[in-house]
Amino acid sequence: MPEPKSFHEVFIDELRDAYDAEKQLTKALPKMARAAASDELRTAFEDHLAETEGQIRRLEQVFASLDEKPRGKHCDGIAGIIEEGKSILEEDIEETVLDACLIAAGQRAEHYEMAAYGSLIAWAQTMGHAEAAELLQETLDEEKAADEKLSSLAEGGINAEAARTAQAGGERQRASKKDDGKLRRGPAAARSASKKKPGRR
Ligand SMILES: [Fe+2]
Repeated sequence: MPEPKSFHEVFIDELRDAYDAEKQLTKALPKMARAAASDELRTAFEDHLAETEGQIRRLEQVFASLDEKPRGKHCDGIAGIIEEGKSILEEDIEETVLDACLIAAGQRAEHYEMAAYGSLIAWAQTMGHAEAAELLQETLDEEKAADEKLSSLAEGGINAEAARTAQAGGERQRASKKDDGKLRRGPAAARSASKKKPGRR
C-alpha cells in the first residue's frame, strides 16, 4: 500500500492545481474580454490576462524555489466556474446585462483563486518556505485587486445599466401584453434595441 501523502506533497499538488487553474484562465479571459460591451470591462479582463500570464511565471518560480518541476494537475474547480461562464455566453442576453453576468463570473473565479492562494500562503509559511510564501502573496494581492476592480465596475454603473435594461424589458413585456402581443417601441425599447451590437455571436 502506498504511503499516505505528506503535508508537503499535498502542498505541491495544490500548487499544481493553481498552475493549471491559471492556464485555464488564460484561455477563458480573452473570450470574456471579447464578449464585454463596456470598454472598461474589456480592458479589465485584458489587464488581468496579462497578470495571469505573469502569475504562471511566478508559480514556476515557486516550483523552482522548492526544487520541483512546474507541472499542472487538472483543476476541476476552476473548470466548473469557466464552464458556467461559457453557458452564459451561449445564452441570448442583452449586452448590458451580459456585462453584469461577466463580472459575476469573473468574481467567482477570483474568489476561488483567492481562497486557494490564501491556503497556499499559510501552508508555505507553516512549512518554512518563505520565498514561496512571498511569491504567492504577490499573486494573491493581484487577485484581490482584480476582484476589487470588477466590484468597482459593477458598482460604478454596469449593474445600474443592466437594471435599466431590465426595466425597459419589463415595460416592453407589460406593453406587449396590453397591446395583445404587439410590441410597442417606446423610447426605452428603442434605446436598448439600438444598443444591441450585431454579430456579437
Ligand atoms: Fe490568477
